[in-house]
Amino acid sequence: MDPTTVATALTERLALVRDPELGASITELGMVRAVDVDNEGHATVRVALTTVACPLRGTIERDIREAALGVDGVRGLDVVMDVMDADEKATLLRRARRAAQASAPTTTLAPGTPVLAITSGKGGVGKSSVTANLAVALARTGRTIGVLDADIWGFSIPRLLGVEGPVDAKGGKMIPRERAAGEGRLKVLSMGSLAAEDQALLWRGLIVQRAVQQFVEDADWSDVDYLIIDTPPGTGDIAMTLGRILPMTSHLIVTTPALAAQRVAARAADFARKSNLRVVGVIENMSAFACACGESHPLFGEGGGASLADELAVPLLASIPLRREVSHGGDLGVPAATDDPLLASIFDELARRIVEDVAPPVGAAGCSARLLNALERAIETSA
Ligand SMILES: Nc1ncnc2c1ncn2[C@@H]1O[C@H](COP(=O)(O)OP(=O)(O)OP(=O)(O)O)[C@@H](O)[C@H]1O
Ligand SMILES: [Mg+2]
Repeated sequence: MDPTTVATALTERLALVRDPELGASITELGMVRAVDVDNEGHATVRVALTTVACPLRGTIERDIREAALGVDGVRGLDVVMDVMDADEKATLLRRARRAAQASAPTTTLAPGTPVLAITSGKGGVGKSSVTANLAVALARTGRTIGVLDADIWGFSIPRLLGVEGPVDAKGGKMIPRERAAGEGRLKVLSMGSLAAEDQALLWRGLIVQRAVQQFVEDADWSDVDYLIIDTPPGTGDIAMTLGRILPMTSHLIVTTPALAAQRVAARAADFARKSNLRVVGVIENMSAFACACGESHPLFGEGGGASLADELAVPLLASIPLRREVSHGGDLGVPAATDDPLLASIFDELARRIVEDVAPPVGAAGCSARLLNALERAIETSA
Protein backbone atom coordinates (compact mmCIF):
# COMPACT_ATOMS: atom_id res chain seq x y z
CA MET A 1 0.00 0.00 0.00
CA ASP A 2 1.06 3.56 -0.66
CA PRO A 3 2.78 4.87 2.52
CA THR A 4 1.08 8.27 2.23
CA THR A 5 -2.36 6.65 2.15
CA VAL A 6 -1.46 4.53 5.18
CA ALA A 7 -0.13 7.59 7.05
CA THR A 8 -3.35 9.49 6.30
CA ALA A 9 -5.49 6.59 7.52
CA LEU A 10 -3.35 6.28 10.65
CA THR A 11 -3.61 10.01 11.36
CA GLU A 12 -7.39 9.84 11.03
CA ARG A 13 -7.42 6.94 13.41
CA LEU A 14 -5.22 8.79 15.92
CA ALA A 15 -7.90 11.48 16.07
CA LEU A 16 -9.91 8.95 18.08
CA VAL A 17 -7.23 8.71 20.79
CA ARG A 18 -7.99 11.08 23.63
CA ASP A 19 -5.74 12.61 26.23
CA PRO A 20 -6.85 10.72 29.37
CA GLU A 21 -7.09 13.87 31.44
CA LEU A 22 -8.29 16.51 29.05
CA GLY A 23 -10.68 14.18 27.25
CA ALA A 24 -9.96 15.77 23.87
CA SER A 25 -8.42 14.14 20.83
CA ILE A 26 -4.61 14.09 20.81
CA THR A 27 -4.55 15.31 17.21
CA GLU A 28 -6.93 18.18 18.01
CA LEU A 29 -4.77 19.10 20.98
CA GLY A 30 -1.71 19.27 18.73
CA MET A 31 0.05 16.46 20.59
CA VAL A 32 0.83 14.47 17.42
CA ARG A 33 3.85 16.05 15.80
CA ALA A 34 4.37 13.65 12.91
CA VAL A 35 3.11 10.40 11.45
CA ASP A 36 5.53 8.70 9.06
CA VAL A 37 5.16 5.38 7.29
CA ASP A 38 7.97 3.74 5.30
CA ASN A 39 7.65 1.49 2.24
CA GLU A 40 7.48 -1.62 4.42
CA GLY A 41 4.48 -0.27 6.33
CA HIS A 42 6.48 0.55 9.45
CA ALA A 43 4.95 3.61 11.11
CA THR A 44 6.55 6.14 13.44
CA VAL A 45 4.26 8.37 15.47
CA ARG A 46 5.84 11.32 17.26
CA VAL A 47 3.88 12.55 20.22
CA ALA A 48 4.65 15.61 22.30
CA LEU A 49 3.72 15.45 26.00
CA THR A 50 3.41 18.38 28.39
CA THR A 51 6.14 17.03 30.69
CA VAL A 52 8.75 14.37 30.21
CA ALA A 53 7.69 12.57 33.40
CA CYS A 54 4.03 12.42 32.43
CA PRO A 55 2.69 9.45 34.40
CA LEU A 56 0.09 8.87 31.72
CA ARG A 57 2.58 8.34 28.91
CA GLY A 58 2.05 4.58 29.16
CA THR A 59 -1.70 5.00 28.75
CA ILE A 60 -1.29 7.34 25.81
CA GLU A 61 1.18 5.01 24.10
CA ARG A 62 -1.08 2.01 24.67
CA ASP A 63 -4.07 3.85 23.18
CA ILE A 64 -2.01 4.87 20.15
CA ARG A 65 -0.91 1.27 19.63
CA GLU A 66 -4.47 0.09 19.99
CA ALA A 67 -5.70 2.64 17.45
CA ALA A 68 -2.98 1.62 14.99
CA LEU A 69 -4.02 -2.04 15.19
CA GLY A 70 -7.11 -1.35 13.13
CA VAL A 71 -5.33 0.49 10.32
CA ASP A 72 -4.76 -1.42 7.07
CA GLY A 73 -1.16 -1.37 5.90
CA VAL A 74 0.49 -0.67 9.29
CA ARG A 75 2.95 -3.54 9.86
CA GLY A 76 4.94 -2.12 12.76
CA LEU A 77 4.84 0.91 15.00
CA ASP A 78 7.26 3.06 16.95
CA VAL A 79 5.83 5.63 19.30
CA VAL A 80 8.35 8.34 20.04
CA MET A 81 7.59 10.62 22.97
CA ASP A 82 8.90 14.18 22.97
CA VAL A 83 8.22 17.13 25.23
CA MET A 84 6.22 20.19 24.14
CA ASP A 85 7.86 23.55 23.83
CA ALA A 86 6.24 26.65 25.33
CA ASP A 87 4.30 27.50 22.16
CA GLU A 88 2.92 23.99 21.85
CA LYS A 89 1.85 24.04 25.51
CA ALA A 90 0.04 27.34 25.01
CA THR A 91 -1.76 25.92 21.95
CA LEU A 92 -2.67 22.77 23.87
CA LEU A 93 -4.18 24.78 26.72
CA ARG A 94 -6.18 26.97 24.35
CA ARG A 95 -7.54 23.95 22.49
CA ALA A 96 -8.19 21.98 25.67
CA ARG A 97 -10.27 24.81 27.05
CA ARG A 98 -12.22 25.07 23.81
CA ALA A 99 -12.82 21.30 23.75
CA ALA A 100 -13.97 21.39 27.38
CA GLN A 101 -16.45 24.14 26.59
CA ALA A 102 -17.72 22.33 23.50
CA SER A 103 -18.45 19.13 25.39
CA ALA A 104 -20.56 20.53 28.20
CA PRO A 105 -20.62 18.00 31.02
CA THR A 106 -23.43 15.49 30.75
CA THR A 107 -22.50 13.59 33.88
CA THR A 108 -21.85 14.51 37.47
CA LEU A 109 -18.56 12.59 37.35
CA ALA A 110 -15.59 14.84 37.99
CA PRO A 111 -13.56 15.32 34.77
CA GLY A 112 -10.97 12.61 34.33
CA THR A 113 -12.60 10.13 36.76
CA PRO A 114 -11.59 6.68 35.52
CA VAL A 115 -14.52 4.57 34.34
CA LEU A 116 -14.04 0.80 34.15
CA ALA A 117 -16.55 -1.39 32.31
CA ILE A 118 -16.52 -5.10 33.11
CA THR A 119 -17.37 -6.80 29.83
CA SER A 120 -17.50 -10.24 28.22
CA GLY A 121 -19.17 -11.71 25.19
CA LYS A 122 -20.54 -14.68 27.10
CA GLY A 123 -23.00 -14.82 29.96
CA GLY A 124 -22.25 -16.36 33.32
CA VAL A 125 -18.45 -15.97 33.25
CA GLY A 126 -18.47 -13.92 36.44
CA LYS A 127 -18.68 -10.27 35.34
CA SER A 128 -20.96 -9.31 38.22
CA SER A 129 -18.90 -11.24 40.76
CA VAL A 130 -15.70 -9.61 39.49
CA THR A 131 -17.38 -6.17 39.58
CA ALA A 132 -18.54 -6.62 43.18
CA ASN A 133 -15.21 -7.96 44.46
CA LEU A 134 -13.11 -5.44 42.58
CA ALA A 135 -15.30 -2.62 43.91
CA VAL A 136 -14.65 -3.81 47.45
CA ALA A 137 -10.90 -4.08 46.86
CA LEU A 138 -10.71 -0.62 45.26
CA ALA A 139 -12.73 0.87 48.13
CA ARG A 140 -10.28 -0.72 50.56
CA THR A 141 -7.61 1.60 49.16
CA GLY A 142 -9.55 4.38 50.93
CA ARG A 143 -11.47 5.58 47.89
CA THR A 144 -15.11 6.09 47.03
CA ILE A 145 -16.14 3.69 44.30
CA GLY A 146 -19.26 4.16 42.22
CA VAL A 147 -20.78 0.91 40.98
CA LEU A 148 -23.28 1.11 38.15
CA ASP A 149 -25.19 -2.03 37.29
CA ALA A 150 -25.93 -1.60 33.60
CA ASP A 151 -27.41 -5.08 33.34
CA ILE A 152 -30.96 -3.83 33.13
CA TRP A 153 -32.56 -7.24 32.59
CA GLY A 154 -30.38 -9.37 34.82
CA PHE A 155 -29.29 -6.94 37.52
CA SER A 156 -27.54 -8.64 40.42
CA ILE A 157 -25.23 -6.02 41.92
CA PRO A 158 -27.48 -4.77 44.77
CA ARG A 159 -27.77 -8.32 46.10
CA LEU A 160 -24.06 -9.11 45.61
CA LEU A 161 -23.06 -5.96 47.49
CA GLY A 162 -25.81 -6.16 50.09
CA VAL A 163 -27.34 -2.76 49.28
CA GLU A 164 -30.84 -3.72 48.25
CA GLY A 165 -33.62 -1.20 48.66
CA PRO A 166 -35.01 1.86 46.92
CA VAL A 167 -32.88 4.84 45.83
CA ASP A 168 -33.55 8.39 46.98
CA ALA A 169 -33.55 11.45 44.79
CA LYS A 170 -32.26 14.89 45.69
CA GLY A 171 -32.10 17.99 43.51
CA GLY A 172 -33.39 15.98 40.56
CA LYS A 173 -30.55 13.44 40.86
CA MET A 174 -30.76 9.81 41.92
CA ILE A 175 -28.68 9.20 45.02
CA PRO A 176 -26.87 5.85 44.79
CA ARG A 177 -27.17 3.51 47.77
CA GLU A 178 -24.12 3.65 49.97
CA ARG A 179 -22.14 1.42 52.27
CA ALA A 180 -18.70 1.35 53.82
CA ALA A 181 -16.03 -1.05 52.54
CA GLY A 182 -12.80 -1.05 54.50
CA GLU A 183 -11.44 2.48 54.58
CA GLY A 184 -13.56 3.51 51.63
CA ARG A 185 -17.16 3.63 50.45
CA LEU A 186 -19.30 2.07 47.75
CA LYS A 187 -22.05 3.98 45.96
CA VAL A 188 -24.31 1.67 44.02
CA LEU A 189 -27.00 2.23 41.45
CA SER A 190 -28.91 -0.48 39.63
CA MET A 191 -32.19 -1.17 38.00
CA GLY A 192 -32.51 -3.45 41.02
CA SER A 193 -32.82 -0.31 43.15
CA LEU A 194 -35.80 0.75 41.07
CA ALA A 195 -37.53 -2.58 40.50
CA ALA A 196 -38.07 -5.83 42.39
CA GLU A 197 -35.49 -8.50 41.61
CA ASP A 198 -37.98 -11.01 40.29
CA GLN A 199 -39.87 -8.48 38.21
CA ALA A 200 -39.66 -9.40 34.54
CA LEU A 201 -38.22 -6.53 32.57
CA LEU A 202 -39.13 -6.92 28.97
CA TRP A 203 -37.46 -3.81 27.72
CA ARG A 204 -36.46 -3.05 24.20
CA GLY A 205 -33.02 -1.89 23.14
CA LEU A 206 -33.73 1.80 22.88
CA ILE A 207 -35.37 2.04 26.27
CA VAL A 208 -32.45 0.17 27.79
CA GLN A 209 -29.98 2.61 26.29
CA ARG A 210 -32.02 5.46 27.65
CA ALA A 211 -32.07 3.87 31.11
CA VAL A 212 -28.29 3.47 31.18
CA GLN A 213 -27.86 7.02 29.99
CA GLN A 214 -30.08 8.21 32.83
CA PHE A 215 -28.09 6.19 35.35
CA VAL A 216 -24.96 7.96 34.16
CA GLU A 217 -26.37 11.45 33.71
CA ASP A 218 -29.13 11.79 36.27
CA ALA A 219 -27.38 10.27 39.25
CA ASP A 220 -25.09 11.89 41.76
CA TRP A 221 -21.61 10.48 41.09
CA SER A 222 -19.92 13.74 42.03
CA ASP A 223 -17.48 12.47 44.66
CA VAL A 224 -16.52 9.04 43.31
CA ASP A 225 -12.88 8.27 42.56
CA TYR A 226 -13.76 5.41 40.19
CA LEU A 227 -16.91 4.33 38.44
CA ILE A 228 -17.16 0.59 37.74
CA ILE A 229 -19.86 -0.57 35.37
CA ASP A 230 -21.16 -4.13 35.31
CA THR A 231 -22.46 -4.85 31.83
CA PRO A 232 -24.95 -7.42 30.56
CA PRO A 233 -23.69 -10.42 28.59
CA GLY A 234 -23.06 -10.00 24.89
CA THR A 235 -21.79 -7.17 22.80
CA GLY A 236 -24.03 -4.45 21.56
CA ASP A 237 -26.20 -1.66 22.71
CA ILE A 238 -24.90 -0.98 26.19
CA ALA A 239 -21.24 -0.90 25.15
CA MET A 240 -22.15 1.48 22.31
CA THR A 241 -24.13 3.68 24.67
CA LEU A 242 -21.18 3.84 27.06
CA GLY A 243 -18.86 4.60 24.15
CA ARG A 244 -21.03 7.57 23.30
CA ILE A 245 -21.69 9.03 26.75
CA LEU A 246 -18.46 8.01 28.51
CA PRO A 247 -15.89 7.78 25.70
CA MET A 248 -13.00 7.42 28.14
CA THR A 249 -14.32 4.13 29.55
CA SER A 250 -11.67 1.42 29.95
CA HIS A 251 -13.02 -2.05 29.20
CA LEU A 252 -11.83 -5.05 31.20
CA ILE A 253 -12.71 -8.33 29.48
CA VAL A 254 -13.66 -11.29 31.67
CA THR A 255 -13.20 -14.79 30.32
CA THR A 256 -13.07 -18.30 31.75
CA PRO A 257 -10.04 -20.46 30.88
CA ALA A 258 -12.14 -22.46 28.40
CA LEU A 259 -11.34 -22.00 24.75
CA ALA A 260 -14.99 -21.46 23.77
CA ALA A 261 -15.42 -18.65 26.30
CA GLN A 262 -12.17 -17.11 25.20
CA ARG A 263 -13.33 -17.10 21.54
CA VAL A 264 -16.54 -15.31 22.49
CA ALA A 265 -14.62 -12.84 24.64
CA ALA A 266 -12.27 -12.20 21.70
CA ARG A 267 -15.29 -11.32 19.56
CA ALA A 268 -16.51 -8.93 22.25
CA ALA A 269 -13.08 -7.32 22.40
CA ASP A 270 -12.93 -7.10 18.61
CA PHE A 271 -16.33 -5.44 18.58
CA ALA A 272 -15.19 -3.02 21.30
CA ARG A 273 -12.14 -2.08 19.29
CA LYS A 274 -14.05 -1.59 16.06
CA SER A 275 -16.36 0.70 17.98
CA ASN A 276 -13.32 2.63 19.27
CA LEU A 277 -13.80 1.45 22.82
CA ARG A 278 -10.67 1.10 24.91
CA VAL A 279 -9.76 -2.44 25.96
CA VAL A 280 -7.17 -2.32 28.75
CA GLY A 281 -6.89 -5.81 30.18
CA VAL A 282 -8.16 -9.36 30.59
CA ILE A 283 -9.36 -11.00 33.80
CA GLU A 284 -9.54 -14.79 33.84
CA ASN A 285 -12.25 -16.07 36.15
CA MET A 286 -13.05 -19.63 37.26
CA SER A 287 -9.41 -20.66 36.89
CA ALA A 288 -8.22 -23.94 38.46
CA PHE A 289 -10.06 -25.12 41.56
CA ALA A 290 -7.67 -25.83 44.44
CA CYS A 291 -9.12 -28.60 46.62
CA ALA A 292 -8.44 -29.07 50.32
CA CYS A 293 -6.20 -32.04 49.40
CA GLY A 294 -3.77 -29.56 47.87
CA GLU A 295 -4.34 -30.54 44.27
CA SER A 296 -5.30 -28.11 41.57
CA HIS A 297 -8.14 -28.99 39.19
CA PRO A 298 -8.51 -26.96 36.00
CA LEU A 299 -12.24 -27.74 35.66
CA PHE A 300 -12.82 -25.22 32.88
CA GLY A 301 -9.56 -25.77 31.05
CA GLU A 302 -6.40 -23.73 31.16
CA GLY A 303 -4.74 -20.81 29.48
CA GLY A 304 -7.81 -19.01 28.05
CA GLY A 305 -7.03 -15.74 29.84
CA ALA A 306 -3.36 -15.65 28.87
CA SER A 307 -4.02 -16.45 25.23
CA LEU A 308 -6.81 -13.86 24.99
CA ALA A 309 -4.54 -11.25 26.57
CA ASP A 310 -1.83 -12.20 24.06
CA GLU A 311 -4.20 -11.93 21.16
CA LEU A 312 -5.44 -8.52 22.27
CA ALA A 313 -1.95 -7.32 23.24
CA VAL A 314 -3.17 -6.25 26.68
CA PRO A 315 -2.09 -7.58 30.09
CA LEU A 316 -3.73 -10.50 31.88
CA LEU A 317 -4.50 -8.59 35.06
CA ALA A 318 -5.73 -11.41 37.31
CA SER A 319 -6.62 -15.10 37.44
CA ILE A 320 -9.39 -15.76 39.91
CA PRO A 321 -9.77 -19.38 41.00
CA LEU A 322 -13.04 -21.26 41.16
CA ARG A 323 -13.93 -21.02 44.79
CA ARG A 324 -17.10 -21.73 46.69
CA GLU A 325 -16.62 -18.53 48.70
CA VAL A 326 -17.33 -16.44 45.55
CA SER A 327 -20.88 -17.69 45.13
CA HIS A 328 -21.44 -17.99 48.87
CA GLY A 329 -20.29 -14.40 49.48
CA GLY A 330 -22.56 -13.29 46.65
CA ASP A 331 -25.55 -14.92 48.29
CA LEU A 332 -24.77 -13.23 51.59
CA GLY A 333 -24.24 -9.79 50.05
CA VAL A 334 -20.65 -9.80 51.33
CA PRO A 335 -18.24 -10.25 48.39
CA ALA A 336 -15.64 -12.90 49.12
CA ALA A 337 -12.78 -10.42 48.69
CA THR A 338 -13.98 -8.89 51.97
CA ASP A 339 -12.89 -11.75 54.19
CA ASP A 340 -11.52 -14.71 52.23
CA PRO A 341 -7.72 -14.28 52.50
CA LEU A 342 -6.91 -15.80 49.08
CA LEU A 343 -9.52 -13.82 47.16
CA ALA A 344 -8.78 -10.66 49.16
CA SER A 345 -5.12 -10.85 48.13
CA ILE A 346 -5.97 -11.54 44.46
CA PHE A 347 -8.45 -8.66 44.23
CA ASP A 348 -6.17 -6.30 46.22
CA GLU A 349 -3.42 -7.00 43.68
CA LEU A 350 -5.86 -6.38 40.80
CA ALA A 351 -6.93 -3.10 42.44
CA ARG A 352 -3.28 -2.13 42.88
CA ARG A 353 -2.54 -2.69 39.20
CA ILE A 354 -5.55 -0.64 38.22
CA VAL A 355 -4.66 2.26 40.53
CA GLU A 356 -0.96 2.27 39.71
CA ASP A 357 -0.96 1.41 36.06
CA VAL A 358 -4.11 0.61 34.12
CA ALA A 359 -6.31 3.56 35.13
CA PRO A 360 -4.69 5.84 37.71
CA PRO A 361 -7.14 8.03 39.64
CA VAL A 362 -7.36 11.76 38.98
CA GLY A 363 -4.66 13.66 40.82
CA ALA A 364 -2.35 10.69 41.17
CA ALA A 365 -2.21 10.75 37.38
CA GLY A 366 -1.98 14.31 36.23
CA CYS A 367 0.38 15.97 33.84
CA SER A 368 -1.76 18.02 31.50
CA ALA A 369 -4.60 18.64 33.96
CA ARG A 370 -2.10 19.70 36.61
CA LEU A 371 -0.43 21.97 34.11
CA LEU A 372 -3.77 23.42 33.12
CA ASN A 373 -4.59 24.16 36.77
CA ALA A 374 -1.19 25.67 37.42
CA LEU A 375 -1.53 27.89 34.37
CA GLU A 376 -5.01 28.97 35.32
CA ARG A 377 -3.79 29.88 38.81
CA ALA A 378 -0.89 31.83 37.31
CA ILE A 379 -3.27 33.71 35.02
CA GLU A 380 -5.61 34.48 37.93
CA THR A 381 -2.81 35.82 40.13
CA SER A 382 -1.35 37.95 37.36
CA ALA A 383 -4.78 39.34 36.37
N1 LIG B 1 -14.50 -17.61 40.75
C1 LIG B 1 -15.68 -18.17 41.00
N2 LIG B 1 -15.79 -19.28 41.78
C2 LIG B 1 -16.99 -19.85 42.02
N3 LIG B 1 -18.15 -19.39 41.56
C3 LIG B 1 -18.12 -18.30 40.77
C4 LIG B 1 -16.90 -17.62 40.46
N4 LIG B 1 -17.20 -16.55 39.68
C5 LIG B 1 -18.53 -16.55 39.52
N5 LIG B 1 -19.09 -17.59 40.16
C6 LIG B 1 -20.52 -17.97 40.20
O1 LIG B 1 -20.93 -18.15 38.84
C7 LIG B 1 -22.23 -17.65 38.63
C8 LIG B 1 -22.19 -16.59 37.53
O2 LIG B 1 -21.44 -15.48 37.99
P1 LIG B 1 -21.87 -13.98 37.66
O3 LIG B 1 -23.32 -13.79 37.90
O4 LIG B 1 -20.91 -13.11 38.37
O5 LIG B 1 -21.59 -13.98 36.11
P2 LIG B 1 -22.00 -12.90 35.01
O6 LIG B 1 -20.97 -12.95 33.95
O7 LIG B 1 -22.24 -11.59 35.66
O8 LIG B 1 -23.36 -13.50 34.50
P3 LIG B 1 -24.43 -12.76 33.53
O9 LIG B 1 -23.82 -12.84 32.18
O10 LIG B 1 -25.66 -13.58 33.68
O11 LIG B 1 -24.57 -11.36 34.03
C9 LIG B 1 -22.69 -17.09 39.97
O12 LIG B 1 -23.47 -18.05 40.62
C10 LIG B 1 -21.40 -16.87 40.74
O13 LIG B 1 -21.57 -16.98 42.13
MG1 LIG C 1 -23.96 -10.36 35.58
